[in-house]
Amino acid sequence: MSQHVIWSEPSVSKAERRAIRGHHSLVLWLTGLSGAGKSTIGKALERKLYETGHHTFLLDGDNLRKGINADLGFSPPDRQENVRRTAEIAKLFVESGTIVIAALISPFRADREWVRRQFAEDEFVEVFVDCPLEVCQSRDPKGLYQQARQGAIPQFTGLASPYEPPISPEIVLHTDRLSIDDCVTRIIQYMDDCGWL
Ligand code: ADX
Repeated sequence: MSQHVIWSEPSVSKAERRAIRGHHSLVLWLTGLSGAGKSTIGKALERKLYETGHHTFLLDGDNLRKGINADLGFSPPDRQENVRRTAEIAKLFVESGTIVIAALISPFRADREWVRRQFAEDEFVEVFVDCPLEVCQSRDPKGLYQQARQGAIPQFTGLASPYEPPISPEIVLHTDRLSIDDCVTRIIQYMDDCGWL
C-alpha cells in the first residue's frame, strides 16, 4: 500500500544516540501466559535500570491495548497485528538508544520469530516468563481465568487459545520458583555479560 515512499536517512545515527546515552539499546521481549509475571518483572526491571542510570521504556501489552492497539481483539490475526505494531514501536525506541522491555503474551511462535527478524542479533532478547498454567490460574491476579472458565472471555490464552512456548529463548525465568528480584538480576546479568550496560 505504501508505494512511492522513499526512506529518509536520519541526521543522527543509532550509534550516536547510543553513545550519548552511554549504553546499548535493544528489546527484551518478555513472553508468557497471563499471570506469569511479565508486567511485574518488566516494571521491577525498568525501575532497577532507571536507578542505575539507564534509559528504558516498558511496552506493556495491556497498556498498549488501551491506546494504539485499542482496535484489536484476541483472534490470531489480531494478536499478530498486536505483536507487529509493538515490534515497530520497539524498533523506534531501539533506534533512539533506549532499552525496551516489551511485555506481551505474544502466544504464537511464528509472530515472535518475525519480531526477532526485525532486529540485529544483539538487539533482540527473548525472555520466556515460564510459569505452569495451574500456577497462573491459582494466582489469577486480575480474576480473568475465573471469568474465562465461566465463559465470559472467549479465546483466553491457555484455556481456549494456545500458548506456544519458545524453543530457544535467550533467557528462561521460572517464576513459580524464582523471586521477582532474582528474575531482574538474571536479566541484568545477561545484559552485563554481553557488555551492553
Ligand atoms: S497478546 O496475546 O495479544 O500478546 P496482550 O499481552 O497484548 O496479549 O494482552 C493480554 C492481556 O489482555 C491479558 O493480560 C489480559 O489482561 C487481557 N485479555 C483480555 N482478553 C484476553 C484473552 N482472550 N486472552 C488473553 N488475554 C486477554
